[in-house]
Amino acid sequence: MIQTKLTDMLGTRYPVIQAGMGPWNTDKLCVAAANAGALGMISTVGIGYLWTRPEEGTPATPYDFLRSIIARVGDATKEKQGIFGCNIPLAIEFKEQVEGMIKATGDARNEDPDLKERLKVIITSAGNPTPWTEAIKETGCYWFHVAPSVYHALKAEKAGADVIIASGREGGGHVAFEPIHTMVLLPQVINAVKVPVVGAGGFADGSSLVAALSLGAIGIQMGTRFIATKESDFHDLWKNKVVETSEMDSMVGISIFGPARYLKNDVAVRLHELFKGGFEQGYEEGVMLETKGIALSIEGGDPAWSIYFGGEAAGRIDSIISVQELLEGIEEQAEATIRDLQLNLGA
Ligand SMILES: Cc1cc2nc3c(=O)[nH]c(=O)nc-3n(C[C@H](O)[C@H](O)[C@H](O)COP(=O)(O)O)c2cc1C
Repeated sequence: MIQTKLTDMLGTRYPVIQAGMGPWNTDKLCVAAANAGALGMISTVGIGYLWTRPEEGTPATPYDFLRSIIARVGDATKEKQGIFGCNIPLAIEFKEQVEGMIKATGDARNEDPDLKERLKVIITSAGNPTPWTEAIKETGCYWFHVAPSVYHALKAEKAGADVIIASGREGGGHVAFEPIHTMVLLPQVINAVKVPVVGAGGFADGSSLVAALSLGAIGIQMGTRFIATKESDFHDLWKNKVVETSEMDSMVGISIFGPARYLKNDVAVRLHELFKGGFEQGYEEGVMLETKGIALSIEGGDPAWSIYFGGEAAGRIDSIISVQELLEGIEEQAEATIRDLQLNLGA
């Protein structure tokens, strides 16, 4: 077993977080990850948009919507006492939604003694953490904040975050304008802050987990690797795309909330060109292509024009396996890597 400060803090078996991946649903993935012993995350971006959850019928408020998802995930993880959380990006454009979702998480915990033990984390990202300290602390959850630079990590620590997730440029989905990769970012953030740090961006297996731990992290967050699992909510076309993609075939392009990393297809190439041509100029066309492409990725439409967010780690992923197999494999490989390291060092 690989026991770290993260597993101690959360009571999970594995020091692994299944990343939030809105606006796509990760409800089933969250249940599978939590039940298998990782931290499962509910994705909340797009929660107010019916088109990302067509099966849900007329959406109520973001508060009610998230409460119903938490109730479902809570029931499905009760038997195994799975640990889970909510990923709430802090985009100021969605202030009311953010307020509702933070409150939904706190109320769900506080009204149910079982959930109080298991709905343990809010992971915030994509926005200024400072205005949200009081609301998040009131929920009683641990507060993890995603930071793409030392500057953002220090700001989140000052705001009161309990853990920083240092997220490097290799990662799938939104990335910062300034390209800082995990290998450089993670040790710098660890040196800069006093709170514990989790690594994100580029992790896919046990040896990369050990790399993060050896740099001083307490665990890893993975998105792209979890897409290619049997239980994940993503369309099969996307899962296969992760498997087929080589390490050279992801690219950063324009997206609604800034640059994002995509798996290469026609739409990714176009978004990459738009980004290279200047973010401001390409923004309008980029948003149109992304909005359409997200709908296609959900329906299983034309794979050339479907938006497939994904990281460089796709090049290291060659199978679609169950979440349980993935986590057991990570643990096994991490233990073997540590043993081999000692042998190589002559210990
Ligand atoms: C499809 C997809 C959607 C994502 N959406 C979100 C999101 O809604 N909120 C967020 O904080 N991060 C989001 N991310 C980033 C992930 O949470 C995570 O940090 C990233 O995937 C880690 O890098 P990796 O893909 O190399 O594992 C997304 C990533 C992917 C691949």
